[in-house]
Amino acid sequence: MNNKIVVCLGKGGQRDQAESFARRTDAPIQDKPGDYLTVRFDSKGVSLSGFGLTYQGDFVESMLHRVTNGRLQHEMLVKAAKSDKEGRKAIDATAGMGEDAFLLAAQGYEVTLYEQNPVIAALLKDAIRRAKKNIDLKDIASRMKVIEGNSVECMSKLLDPVDVIYLDPMFPARQKSSLINKKLQLIQKLEPPCSEETDLFDAAIKANPDKIIVKRPLKSECLAGREPSYTLKGKAIRYDCYVL
Ligand SMILES: C[S@@+](CC[C@H](N)C(=O)[O-])C[C@H]1O[C@@H](n2cnc3c(N)ncnc32)[C@H](O)[C@@H]1O
Repeated sequence: MNNKIVVCLGKGGQRDQAESFARRTDAPIQDKPGDYLTVRFDSKGVSLSGFGLTYQGDFVESMLHRVTNGRLQHEMLVKAAKSDKEGRKAIDATAGMGEDAFLLAAQGYEVTLYEQNPVIAALLKDAIRRAKKNIDLKDIASRMKVIEGNSVECMSKLLDPVDVIYLDPMFPARQKSSLINKKLQLIQKLEPPCSEETDLFDAAIKANPDKIIVKRPLKSECLAGREPSYTLKGKAIRYDCYVL
């Protein structure tokens, strides 16, 4: 992937996972952290560190409060994806750390999450694995399946029909100060620039879902310049919905 990432295998870490990750990314396995970013496999799971910060995906901390006590139905994405259909299926074609996919899974969707960045995919798989051990989150997490790869290619080979395809190709603009944002910035160091919005949108259309939902910054252009059927607007973001 690049020569800046180092893999550390700590006590209790999954050796086979660490070795397979190192092979796929061409990263060396070392005892000590590297100078740039380090992906660590140990008894606590998988974490990313560098620049004095450590990040680990955690749905309990970041998401539990959003899906409990009647709050789920207030989520704009949940409103955008509302459906009464039994056994509904969604694809999150730009998974990132899976927070949006988690909302869809909490709503009852079986979600396939595609993530092209191997570091983010490893962090995400680990966060889901740990969520499956949490009594409050395990049912939701068990509806989330991560596939490491480019969703444009993967969506062209789908065998089963899908109800909703969700696209969120951009990380939010960098913000200041809080620790959470600093952690996000650590992840942002990994992300290649997204140059394939049109390809993503075309692949989603070809997959023929009932609906495509696209998350956009409130005032930005529509993805690939395509006008949606309707839009749900929040304070900083909006969801463009394309009913096919
Ligand atoms: C803004 S983040 C998504 C954040 C996510 N919605 C969440 O709730 O955490 C965009 C992610 O999409 C991934 N991505 C972009 N294009 C992709 C593609 N064609 N296939 C798979 N992943 C892709 C990037 O690597 C990045 O991790």
